[in-house]
Amino acid sequence: MPGLALWRCDIAKIKVLQLKEIPDGGLKMVTAGGQDILLARTGEKVYAAQNSCTHLGGSLSRGTLEGTVVTCPRHRSQFDMKDGKVLRWTTWPSAVLLFAKLVKPPRPLKTYPVSVESGDVFVEV
Ligand code: FES
Repeated sequence: MPGLALWRCDIAKIKVLQLKEIPDGGLKMVTAGGQDILLARTGEKVYAAQNSCTHLGGSLSRGTLEGTVVTCPRHRSQFDMKDGKVLRWTTWPSAVLLFAKLVKPPRPLKTYPVSVESGDVFVEV
């Protein structure tokens, strides 16, 4: 068709739940596009990231949320849900942590775009 740009798009916008299903200041895990996604709510804003901690795979939905900072329940690594940035890599003693960082360097969380429309939460995966 002339003038029509065609491209392949593998990104899907998926309704995962309603905003009211996530308590304000809370975490919730959903599955979308075959992936476990962590949702974090602060007020009317929702953030999404991979649920699996990049350290050793802890389930971040079982962790805690303060503002936009999620803390892993296993070794207390912290990530900013806004961009997945590593804020703390475990709470291990410095000598152990130094070795651990050499073996497994800190990696940010993969994050996903989120939108809230008419009370429904959508994630692009
Ligand atoms: S598995 Fe999350 S900090 Fe170790």
